[in-house]
Amino acid sequence: MVKTLFFFSSLLLLLVSHSSQEPEPEQFPSQAHAELIHHGFPIGLLPSSVLNYTLNHTSGDFIIDLGDACKITLPPDNYLATYSKKVTGKIVKGRIAEIDGIRVRAFFKWWSITGIHSSGENLIFEVGMVTTKYPSKNFDESPACEGRHSSS
Ligand SMILES: *[C@@H]1O[C@H](CO)[C@@H](O)[C@H](O)[C@H]1NC(C)=O
Ligand SMILES: *[C@@H]1O[C@H](CO)[C@@H](O)[C@H](O)[C@H]1NC(C)=O
Repeated sequence: MVKTLFFFSSLLLLLVSHSSQEPEPEQFPSQAHAELIHHGFPIGLLPSSVLNYTLNHTSGDFIIDLGDACKITLPPDNYLATYSKKVTGKIVKGRIAEIDGIRVRAFFKWWSITGIHSSGENLIFEVGMVTTKYPSKNFDESPACEGRHSSS
């Protein structure tokens, strides 16, 4: 009896200490979203459907696997954006560079987003030589991919 009690209380302790080692596990849709926050970016830059993700903490090189290509509508101007199945780039504090796999439809053309800076309350998107600025708060929520599996 004492032995059983001891077993259960150790088990409980184990569970409690285990859960306290992972701060707020369900606050972000994935570890990739948590890394965005960690580097000073809002989670809404990525769709919620991250399947797999690797980050080299030394170089900042990352690979995000979304499982499938993904289409979302970006606030506030409702630009259509597409994410490739695989999105790659380099992330450091306040800056994402060498992005490959994110395109935005604007002015009747598709543009590749090549870099994103965090600057105070704003995000600055680099589209080739051009930059455009949006308040970060527009990207506080991670959007779901639109129309996935419905048109195929
Ligand atoms: C996730 O990515 C890593 C490296 O790119 C790869 O080794 C691993 O097999 C992938 N895991 C899944 C579940 O796709
Ligand atoms: C991470 O990046 C560093 C610097 O570029 C490189 O030396 C190292 O091999 C990389 N690690 C992995 C696991 O790719």
